[in-house]
Order: sequence, then C-alpha cells, then structure tokens
Amino acid sequence: KPKFSNILIKINEEAADFYHKVLVSTNAGRPGYNYAKQRGLNDEIIAHFRIGYAPKQNNLLLTYLRDQKFKDEDLAESGLFVQSQSGELFDRFRDRLMFPLTDEGDYVVGFSGRRLSPYKTEAKYINSPETKIFTKSKTLFHFAEAKKAVRSEKHLILYEGYMDVIAAYKAGIKSGIASMGTSLTDQQIYMLRRITKNIIINYDGDDPGIHAEERAARMFNNIGGFNLGIVVLPEKLDPDEYVKKYGWEKYQEEVKGALTPTDFFLKRLAQKYNLANDREKLAYLDEAVKEIAQLSNPVEQDLYLDKISQQQGVSKDSLKVNFTKYRRQQN
Ligand code: UTP
Ligand code: MN
Ligand code: MN
Ligand code: MN
Ligand code: MN
Repeated sequence: KPKFSNILIKINEEAADFYHKVLVSTNAGRPGYNYAKQRGLNDEIIAHFRIGYAPKQNNLLLTYLRDQKFKDEDLAESGLFVQSQSGELFDRFRDRLMFPLTDEGDYVVGFSGRRLSPYKTEAKYINSPETKIFTKSKTLFHFAEAKKAVRSEKHLILYEGYMDVIAAYKAGIKSGIASMGTSLTDQQIYMLRRITKNIIINYDGDDPGIHAEERAARMFNNIGGFNLGIVVLPEKLDPDEYVKKYGWEKYQEEVKGALTPTDFFLKRLAQKYNLANDREKLAYLDEAVKEIAQLSNPVEQDLYLDKISQQQGVSKDSLKVNFTKYRRQQN
C-alpha cells in the first residue's frame, strides 16, 4: 500500500492501529475482546476487519496521538475527538467496539463504534462525523476488499450492518458491503456500478429492512443497468442472526434463491391485498399489471404476465388489455 500523504488519514490510520492493539493485547481491551468473542468474532476476523476497542478511560487515544507529535489542530479535524466550548479535546469513542471505515484505497477515514452493553441507554452505534476525508454518503463498509472478490464471486452483496458483512465473510462470502445504516445513496450506487452490474440486496428480514430493500431496488432500477437479486430472510432475522441459527450452508442457499425485483415487488404487493375478496383481487391485478408494464424487456413482461395469469386464474389476454394501456401511458 502506498503511503498516505493526508494528515487526517494518517491520524485515523494510527487510531485504527491503536484501537486494534488495545483490543488484542491489553488488559484495558478485555471488555471489547470478550464482547467480540461473544459475537462470534475469531482472531482472523478481528485482524481482517481491523476491529478494535476504544477503552473506557478518557483520553487514552488523545494522549497516544499527542505523544506521536500530531498537532491539536489536526486532531480536532480528524473526527476522533469532541471539542468543548473552550476548545479542549476529548476522545469521542469510549467503551465501544470499533469498526474502521475505509475509502476506496482502503485507508481509514472514520469509525463506527458499537456499545457493548445490551441496555438501550445510548445509541447502539456512533459514527465519526463528516470530515474533510469522510463523507458518509460516499462510503461503503468493506468496499475496497469486496471489490477484489468480485472477480471470483461475480457479484456484490449489499447488507445493512457491519455484523452482517462479517457474518457473510465467515460464511466464505467476501464480496459483502454495507451502506452503514444511513439509507443508501445514489453516489453509493454509482460506486457499485463501476465494479459490477450484479448486485444482491440482503437487508434485515424485519419490516424496516424489507421497506429499505424496496426503496433500494427502486433506486437501482432508476439508475439502471443492474442485474438485481433480492434476498428476504425469514423470521425477521438479519443475516448475522440467520447464519447463527441455521448455519452458513443454508444461508448460501438463501442467496442462491434471491428474487428478481419484479418477483419481489409482486410478492410485496400480494401481501397488501386480501386476494380471497374479488374487489381487492381486481385492485391487486391492476397494480401488478402496472408494475409489469414498467419492465423494458419484452421477455420479462411476458414471463410475469404469464405468472400472474396462472396464479390468479385470469386469462393473459385480459391482463394484456390493461398492460397495453399502461405501456401507452408511459410513452
Ligand atoms: P441494526 O439495528 O440492524 O444493527 O442496524 P446490526 O447491524 O444488526 O447490529 P448488531 O448486530 O445489533 O450489532 C443496521 C446498521 O445501521 C447502522 C449501523 O451501520 C448498523 O450496522 N446503525 C444502527 C447506526 O449507525 N446507528 C445505530 O444506532 C443503529
Ligand atoms: Mn501504523
Ligand atoms: Mn436492522
Ligand atoms: Mn441488523
Ligand atoms: Mn445484527
């Protein structure tokens, strides 16, 4: 890796080394190490993701970086510290498991820190603020590493959380990335498009996760040029929880069974209606045909009209009438 010239990156890189060293080799790091183990993170995973621990005691990072002759004015801009009214610096992250966030060259530009305690008195994750080197909307967790795996795995898998990317990695899937909770942005989609058109979305199986998948799929479709797969996990599980409960082989089957966006949308739509009631069924069929009319590929159009016709016991010819109407409205 070439040496970084940016002082803020240098500071963040040093901080990553510091947090990591604290986690793996100090007594002050025990709580973090124990938590990591309890979450199923082994030493290899901890090393690969450069996971660390921000100690409980205040200003250990500040002292460490000052000892290395970094100037307070640079430290203040690094995102690692909060500043009091009078300009005093304090460690921003304390008693948290630390996930380094890296840029496209895999240089550390910020962090996300998870609280160890299960009590919801503080935010579960806190992140570095936006700085000259860290823009959340243009950052994807594990992106630099995942890029390298695309050649062998042929796709990228988009997750909600860090722990999901890590669970996938343990399952042998190295092409996992996460948009870091902040909802997915167009800039992130353009980053992905430069790498591959094959994207699998696998957010959490709970309601917010499925809604976010719907939103994400629409965004990918609007930008266009993607071959999308969508995984919906059962029992509201997130990928990390799923792997723990059912094992990685079953998880890989879930990924292989990813739905096309249209299948996903039609399934979601069907859940919104009581199809035993004719009035609702007609409304569903209307919406479903409208959805299919948005497809540009005639083979896909035919495939899904066929599917709906068979599933709902109505003729394809009758569906075609509305289909043609909606197609015309689009032009
Ligand atoms: P989740 O609530 O699904 O957390 O948020 P998780 O990834 O499953 O985390 P664990 O397993 O409980 O540790 C998904 C993502 O949203 C962001 C984080 O990036 C998280 O991974 N998030 C969540 C925040 O930034 N802050 C929060 O307080 C919560
Ligand atoms: Mn170093
Ligand atoms: Mn979630
Ligand atoms: Mn989750
Ligand atoms: Mn989780």
